[in-house]
Formats: sequence, C-alpha cells, structure tokens
Amino acid sequence: MKRFLIISNRLPVQIAISDDNIDVTPSVGGLATGMQSVSKSFKSSWIGWSGVEAQNLSSEQQKKVDNALAKENCIDVNLTEEEVELYYEGFSNKTIWPLFHYFSQFVEYEEDQWQAYKAVNQKFADVIAENMEGVDKIWVHDYHLLLLPQMIKERFPEVTIGFFLHIPFPSYEVFRILPWRNEIINGMLGADLLGFHTFDYERHFMSSVRRLLGYDIQINEISLPRRIVKVDNFPMGIDYDKFHDAAIASQKKSVRDKSEVRKELERYYLLYPETKFILSIDRLDYSKGLINRLEAFEYFLQEYPEYRDKVTLVLLAVPSRVGVEQYQQMKSEVDEIVGRVNGKYSSINRMPIWYFYRSLPFQNLVDLYNYCEIALITPIRDGMNLVAKEFIASKTDGRGVLILSEMAGASKEMSEALIINPNDKAQIAAAIQTAIEMPDEEQIERNTILQKRLKRYNVEKWANDFLNSLEKVKMSEEIYLAK
Ligand code: ADP
Ligand code: G6P
Repeated sequence: MKRFLIISNRLPVQIAISDDNIDVTPSVGGLATGMQSVSKSFKSSWIGWSGVEAQNLSSEQQKKVDNALAKENCIDVNLTEEEVELYYEGFSNKTIWPLFHYFSQFVEYEEDQWQAYKAVNQKFADVIAENMEGVDKIWVHDYHLLLLPQMIKERFPEVTIGFFLHIPFPSYEVFRILPWRNEIINGMLGADLLGFHTFDYERHFMSSVRRLLGYDIQINEISLPRRIVKVDNFPMGIDYDKFHDAAIASQKKSVRDKSEVRKELERYYLLYPETKFILSIDRLDYSKGLINRLEAFEYFLQEYPEYRDKVTLVLLAVPSRVGVEQYQQMKSEVDEIVGRVNGKYSSINRMPIWYFYRSLPFQNLVDLYNYCEIALITPIRDGMNLVAKEFIASKTDGRGVLILSEMAGASKEMSEALIINPNDKAQIAAAIQTAIEMPDEEQIERNTILQKRLKRYNVEKWANDFLNSLEKVKMSEEIYLAK
C-alpha cells in the first residue's frame, strides 16, 4: 500500500524541553485536533514543526525529539529562532493571518519576512524530498505553506498534491492588497485539488485567480496551460463519536473518577441551582472576538439585571502566538475587562466570570461542553470553528444552546443555533436571554437536527471526501494529458 504525507506547519503534538525531559503534549487548534483523528485511520506520516527552536537543542536532545516524534508518526522540520521570528510569527502571523481574517490594520509588509516565508516553504520541500519513498499523495495544510504545492510539483510532477486552507480566503478586494499576491496564488495552484471550508472562500479564491492571472475558469476547475486544477469546498467536521461517547462515559463515572472540572461545576450547582453556565472557549486570538464577547456580556449584566445572580461565564482562553504584539496587547485587554466586570458585579461568594488562561486536557474540555448550558462563540472572522461543533456533539440529553457568530464558517452548517452578528452587543445580550429562557423541547429539537448532521459529516467523512476527490482529479488529469 502506498503511503501518503500530511504536511502542516504545526504537528499534532508539541514538544517542550526541560533539562533532560521531553514533554509531548497535543497541539491546540482546529487543524491539529481535526487531522489527528484522520492521520490515525490512514497510512500516513506527518511532516511539520515540533514547536522547539532547533539551534537551542544539543544533538542528544534532537535525537530524543526525533524519537518522540517518530512514535507519533511525525517528522520534524527544524526551524531556527530567526525562522520562527520571520516566517512563523512574521509573514504567517503578521501578514497572512490578519489579512485573510480582514484585520488589514494589523498587516505588516516586510520584505525580510516574505523572504523567510519562501525559504521555509523550500525547507519543507527539502524534508518532503527526503521522505518520498513509496509516497504517491501529499496533502498540504494551511496558510503557512501556500507556496509549497508549486515547489513540490516542480520537483515531483507525478505525485498528486492536495491543499486545504483552514482559514478564510478573503475577497479579492482584500487579497489584492498583498504585494506578493501573484506568487501566493501561483504557489497554491501547484496543487491538483484545492479545498476550502465554505463556498464563499472558494468563490473568493476563484475570483482572485481570474482577475490576477486571467486563467480560464469553469465551475470547479481552473485551466492552466498544461494542467487542470480542481477547486471545491469541504466543510471540516469533528470526530463526533469521540466527544459524544466521552461525554456519556463521563456522566457514568463515580465521584472519585470524575474530572476536577465536573466536580467543581457540580459542587457550585448544588449551592446555586439556578445558575446557568455560559461557556467560551478559544485560543486567545483577536479573530475570535473575545473583547466584543466580554463587552456584550457586560452589557447583558447591565441591561438585564434580573439575571445577574443566575449566570456565570466560564472563559477559557488558550495562550497562542505569544510572541506577536497584537496577541500580547489583547491579553492585557481581556485581563482588564474581566477585572472590571468581576469588580463591578461580584458579590461575596459569586463571580460573574471564571477566567482560565490555559489549555485543558481532553476530559475536562468534554465535561465543560457537556455541563455548560450555553456556548457563546462570537468570532469576528473564523474559517470554520470546531469548538461550536464539539459543544453540540458533547450534549448527551439534547439540551444546550449554541450562540454562534455569522462570521464563523460553521454558521453555514449550523443555522439551528442562535446566529448573531459579533459586533452587535445588544443582539448578543438578547440571544443570551433567549438561550436562558429557551424551553427544553425547543433546545432538543434544534440539537437533534444539528447532532444528526455533525455525526453524518464527521471529520473522517470530510477527509474521505477530500481524498476521493483528489483521486478523481488525478484520473481526469491523466485523460486530459492523453488527449
Ligand atoms: P482554531 O483552529 O482557530 O484554534 P477551532 O475552534 O477550529 O479554532 O479549533 C480549536 C481546537 O482547539 C478545538 O478542537 C478545541 O477543542 C481545541 N481547544 C480550544 N481551547 C482549548 C483548551 N483550552 N484546551 C484544550 N483544547 C482546546
Ligand atoms: C489555526 C490555524 C492552524 C494553527 C492553529 C493554532 O487553527 O488554522 O494552522 O495550527 O490555529 O495556531 P498555532 O500558531 O499555535 O499553530
């Protein structure tokens, strides 16, 4: 059987080194959590960055890192401190990320970052070249590696290349701002199949190809001088059963075996049975809309005083890209608003916001999803948002209300949620009230539809659809070339 390669900047596990110890922990983020399930069910190796800066390692430590990764079927692409600064924190997260999420005010246009981005994409191509034995397919992921498909195609024209973008592709009017726009599009067009989460992202990409490069475009196809590139949308799903089954199993656990999170929530609920828990989970990222979420919650407490003693916002923010200035600034802003709201609305034994700045083990995460009555997910822009799907999958009795931003890709498939505009705090506050008051039957009705859809279109189906389309593209390309 042929092997296939998964390529992404972030590996599914992260390595941390302290003295002689090597810590291996799961990575956070939709790409890693989603693709992790996929890579286990296919014969694949995963090439990417382990999260450590290479020149800080002794050869002994590097050997340990490589061994730890090999156990996970992963291969490390070493990045130096300078590459991390210019390629990862720089071009990837100070240029592409803000631009593709419509935060053009944050975008930097630095030639040295662009050069580092090209060089690191080339470095990935070199590591791929060293691991090509028995490989007939390569699946490249996300915005860090937009040039890589073309680099691979030039070196290995026979290999089938798929590319999936996990973030939005912006409208042409935004994308055209980028000085290196043509190089980026040409890099992506090295793939045989390009996948996006939604039809809109696909449409934006097609429009940029047509207007910038003038290629002939049919519905799902781009005709290049010697090849056809297919483009389609594949909304990413989650490992539904993993969340649902873990939530069921957790409810059956004896007190001794329960997670700390569940014990704490249950204890609190005994004291204050009227409490509704509102859950907020994401990486601490400006695209996730944490500030507007907190302001909307503050507005809710102010405008709906009758609920002040009945709601608790559980705010879980995972540290992310802490080397980038906007992320540091945002952390201070979040700290400040949480302090202000808690200062204003706390009583001796109640605090309106419980704030955690850390990542949580899987079981605790599932318990939060399962236990909290409401999820408040308000990104300003989000390619998909898997947290929304994980929340619904973890509901075991059908109860629970999802409040979801219309700017998240997930909203296209989850119209049974309460859909809000993340910039409209009055609308968010009204949705919180609706969620609190929603009768059980209505919650169950909405969630039954959502759960059926999420279970059917899970992450395995997503990956299979993508890989089947990739197979078909290769076949039609062979027919095209034979003509
Ligand atoms: P993004 O990919 O932009 O981070 P998603 O919502 O698509 O956003 O994916 C986030 C992923 O990270 C989810 O699978 C979620 O379970 C995981 N995650 C988010 N917050 C935490 C946390 N505090 N601890 C552990 N995992 C988390
Ligand atoms: C998003 C991106 C992923 C990225 C993840 C976490 O999901 O689409 O490519 O891995 O965020 O971000 P990080 O910078 O820590 O890899």
